[in-house]
Amino acid sequence: MLMRQVESLVRGRFMGEGTGHDWWHIHRVRNLAIYIARKEGANLKVVETAALLHDIADWKFHDGDHTAGSKEARKILIDFNADQELIDHVCEIIDGVSFKGAAVQTPMRTLEGRCVQDADRLDALGAIGIARAFAYGGAKGRPLYDPDAPPAEQHESFEAYKNRQGPSTLHHFDEKLLRLRDMMLTAAGRQIADERHRFLEEFHRRFLVEWEGKI
Ligand code: ADP
Ligand code: NI
Repeated sequence: MLMRQVESLVRGRFMGEGTGHDWWHIHRVRNLAIYIARKEGANLKVVETAALLHDIADWKFHDGDHTAGSKEARKILIDFNADQELIDHVCEIIDGVSFKGAAVQTPMRTLEGRCVQDADRLDALGAIGIARAFAYGGAKGRPLYDPDAPPAEQHESFEAYKNRQGPSTLHHFDEKLLRLRDMMLTAAGRQIADERHRFLEEFHRRFLVEWEGKI
């Protein structure tokens, strides 16, 4: 009952969003999170609710307040009469889930949080991850690749990551996507990440070969 209410609300808000954060991202993350949670023996209700709500802030807040998501999720779950323990756990996960820069640690206290975080990151890898990266870069008007602007090696803080000049999309691979495999927090997530990572590396390699006109 709760799950159906949350799903229908989230689906309504995200339908038609065009930058890789649409309903189908949420849908894939939910499926991946449940798959991982089953393998890891995590609480499925917590994992599914958090997966459905993990990007809820992006629907209307764009001001960089990274607690906006949990505030909105709390409101929604209170409206639906969810129990307090579930609300607190889900909100803690939402606060912790987003990528905050290459050198910024994002620990997850609970197994359920680790399942959701891995699922979200897996959707930035593989074929879907490539498609999302170029869709996002296109939406921001960024070039596919700019050999004259090398990627930042480190971001000292979340602020530095948010405020930097946007990279070309291929540089986003170096800044984020190719680092995600080693940031996986569950064994099940890591296993899926291995294959998706190899696919990314192959794409990245071929992109540069073709860019240089070598074949
Ligand atoms: P999430 O934490 O849900 O993955 P993000 O907002 O970090 O959300 O990213 C959404 C999608 O857009 C991801 O697939 C991500 O790789 C991609 N993306 C984020 N920043 C960039 C960027 N600078 N260039 C290209 N793609 C990006
Ligand atoms: Ni997400």
